[in-house]
Amino acid sequence: MTEQKRIVSGMRSTGKLHFGHYLGVIQNWVKLQREYESFFFVADWHALTTKYDNTANLKQDVVDVVIDWLACGIDPDVSTIYVQSLVPEIAELNIYLSMITPQNWVERDPTLKDMAKILRTKEGAASQINYGLMGYPVLMSADIMMFNAEAVPVGIDQVAHLEFTRDVARRFNNIYKTDFFKEAKPLLNECSLICGLDGNKMGKSFGNDIKISDTEEVTTKKIMTAITDRSRLRKTDLGHPEQCEVAFKYWQIFGTPEQVETVKSECEQGLRGCADCKRQLAAIINERFAPIREKRRYYEEHPQEVAKIIAEGSERARAEAQKTLKEVRKLVGMY
Ligand code: TRP
Ligand code: SF4
Repeated sequence: MTEQKRIVSGMRSTGKLHFGHYLGVIQNWVKLQREYESFFFVADWHALTTKYDNTANLKQDVVDVVIDWLACGIDPDVSTIYVQSLVPEIAELNIYLSMITPQNWVERDPTLKDMAKILRTKEGAASQINYGLMGYPVLMSADIMMFNAEAVPVGIDQVAHLEFTRDVARRFNNIYKTDFFKEAKPLLNECSLICGLDGNKMGKSFGNDIKISDTEEVTTKKIMTAITDRSRLRKTDLGHPEQCEVAFKYWQIFGTPEQVETVKSECEQGLRGCADCKRQLAAIINERFAPIREKRRYYEEHPQEVAKIIAEGSERARAEAQKTLKEVRKLVGMY
């Protein structure tokens, strides 16, 4: 058997995940896990960069993320699922990488600039950016380089960080005259980005998301608030699906081509009311997520099983990390 190529990817522990995570990232992981040797981790240190003063839910947030992954089909017998902080070798690699990373590289990181902007609007202009947050992209490079991954399946928003990681890997190889580190490429998903119920980017902090863990009732209630064609007041008004900002887009994601065609033509002819349309959409979404939600309930009721998966995966990841670190210490010239 030829050796499988490796992928590594992670998500910050932000608690229960939403449809954007599922469609944009997790679905891709589920598909890729059998083609690649896969390492998926919960980035709890990355969560700490902004939540260091609010850690009461940190542990539960980790568990919630892992349960969502398992429910969606990440298979712990196929993929290595672990928690970043349970692989402390990553922190040591982070130190070596931070030595070789020029300060202006982190300062110009576009994702970091955005995060800083959000923090400032939340906490006022006086808010300071902590040293750990400045190190966000370096730590992310350590996550990826620790497993010498070939590719990293992420959403489009992380592409700049991967470019950063490749720069760091190249610089390490140059400085220590080696070709040890691979330059990891992004593996993007073909699926279009799902917008939030209000038409903006879907996000937990925007209050416009639908969670994988939401009940059918909550899902339906949320879908009923989705923006439609704003020019339409009555069922008999001729509709414009292409101007139906959220509901029709969801149809295109969750419906079959035939369903989408029916919705489109009935809407255009004024034969379909928006409330009915969205109720039907909610039913289809609930049907799609029923098996996932059932599996989720199972893991919620079996926390010991989840704990075991996390412990075993983290052990496996650690063993791999120790191999890399041994080589890195040698290359850098440590005692
Ligand atoms: N920054 C990523 C996010 O916000 C999470 C992350 C941390 C990550 N380290 C990573 C993703 C390494 C891929 C590889 O979602
Ligand atoms: Fe959108 Fe459906 Fe209303 Fe048409 S009928 S505007 S597709 S919600």
